[in-house]
Amino acid sequence: MVKICCIGAGYVGGPTMAVIALKCPAIEVVVVDISEQRIAGWNSERLPIYEPGLDDVVRQCRGRNLFFSTEVHRHVGDADIVFVSVNTPTKTCGLGAGKAADLTYWESAARMIADVSRSDKIVVEKSTVPVKTAEAIEKILVHNSRGVRYQILSNPEFLAEGTAIQDLFAPDRVLIGGRETPEGRAAVKALKDVYAQWVPEERIITTNLWSAELSKLAANAFLAQRISSVNAISALCEATGADVTQVAHSVGKDARIGPRFLSASVGFGGSCFQKDILNLVYICECYGLPEVAGYWREVIRINDYQKSRFVNRVVSSMFNTVAGKKVAVLGFAFKKDTGDTRETPAIDVCKGLLGDKAVVSIYDPQVTGEQVSRDLAMNKFDWDHPRHLQPLSDSDLAKQVGMAADAYEAARDAHAVCILTEWDEFRSLDYKRMFDAMHKPAFIFDGRNVVDVAKLREIGFVVYSIGKPLDDWLKDMPAVA
Ligand code: NAI
Repeated sequence: MVKICCIGAGYVGGPTMAVIALKCPAIEVVVVDISEQRIAGWNSERLPIYEPGLDDVVRQCRGRNLFFSTEVHRHVGDADIVFVSVNTPTKTCGLGAGKAADLTYWESAARMIADVSRSDKIVVEKSTVPVKTAEAIEKILVHNSRGVRYQILSNPEFLAEGTAIQDLFAPDRVLIGGRETPEGRAAVKALKDVYAQWVPEERIITTNLWSAELSKLAANAFLAQRISSVNAISALCEATGADVTQVAHSVGKDARIGPRFLSASVGFGGSCFQKDILNLVYICECYGLPEVAGYWREVIRINDYQKSRFVNRVVSSMFNTVAGKKVAVLGFAFKKDTGDTRETPAIDVCKGLLGDKAVVSIYDPQVTGEQVSRDLAMNKFDWDHPRHLQPLSDSDLAKQVGMAADAYEAARDAHAVCILTEWDEFRSLDYKRMFDAMHKPAFIFDGRNVVDVAKLREIGFVVYSIGKPLDDWLKDMPAVA
């Protein structure tokens, strides 16, 4: 029996390994993590991450050929293939701070693999890493090898949170990069054989190591760039009376462009896009390519602009002040169908509103008050550095933030509603009921284009929806930067 061990039981390690275990009953898969709490969660009825379909997959194979454990050394030592799926956040200090990937977790995982290995291993980079990380990892392993032979593969993960199980069952592609030597090719084949149990052969791409590492960074940069492109157009739509949904539809009909990933919004979030682009920018700078670095940096600048533009729109529409006014925030996760709040635009929007002294009442079906409080107390990039994770204290800020049990409670006595996540339930709320319970004029700022603008205007709301023709009310307000 082939034994797989995955280091890191997070949003990637957990679901990917659960699907491998489900599709390959002859392989034993153990997911290990240094976090006892995370492993306890994976072994419980309430999994540590929310992902549609995940419970079902785990239920089918946990205890059969899928195990979660904190016995990191034992399971890594026993494995034939070791996936490394640890976090690779942005560095917060030192050389490359604010841009470069922090490979502390990766390096310590590599050193640990070298310490405990007594048999040959294939080590698979599952985390998103800078180009040439495999070379660094190889050096650590080889210099500490004590006769054990290693092959390093790059097998970046392309799943999207919220649709992870669907993406893993039927991936657009699986990418495996390896050394172009007989041993490297044999290792690539061994990993390919695992995926080939359920992924059609033509969807499994094999490349050299550096192409695989760079492809993941490039794919995320392209995806984020599409969002920033449509968001940039959304600002122009508001200025001209065009409707971004109509523009995106027309643009997406071009087969060379395609319709997906063209929804305007308050901005992209999630643990990957910003961090991976910053990392790409840093790599370009290191290789003496400032023009290329500058090109990608703009994708992030537009994303930041979109978030601050939204906050400015809210404040300027409400007579240029939200001080003491209750604002309902619907949705805090970075996208629907996940409880993940890493880099969610809701953090920046809430901080902007709180900075203007608003009282914010937040409702999200999957995010707890404790999580919100930690997120709002954090500095940029701190979210993946657990030592900084202190909930909001009993400060003035804490008094400005409350959680609501549902959208109606959040909107009661509010002056405005901001929709920041596209949860399906926000499409079918009883907005008349909300309107009746709000101060007048009642505002809705839809950062995800989920509401029926005409219907809401009929109810009596002043409505702002990203990239849509503006209400007369909003046109009369001073221009927003
Ligand atoms: P995560 O933070 O949810 O999980 C990482 C886990 O690794 C944590 O539970 C942590 O305790 C554990 N860990 C860290 N060092 C360890 C060590 N030395 N030994 C054992 N466990 C250790 O991160 P997530 O979201 O799963 O991301 C992992 C990697 O995958 C990152 O590089 C990310 O960029 C990449 N990725 C993430 C995607 C996503 O949608 N979240 C999608 C594709 C790639």
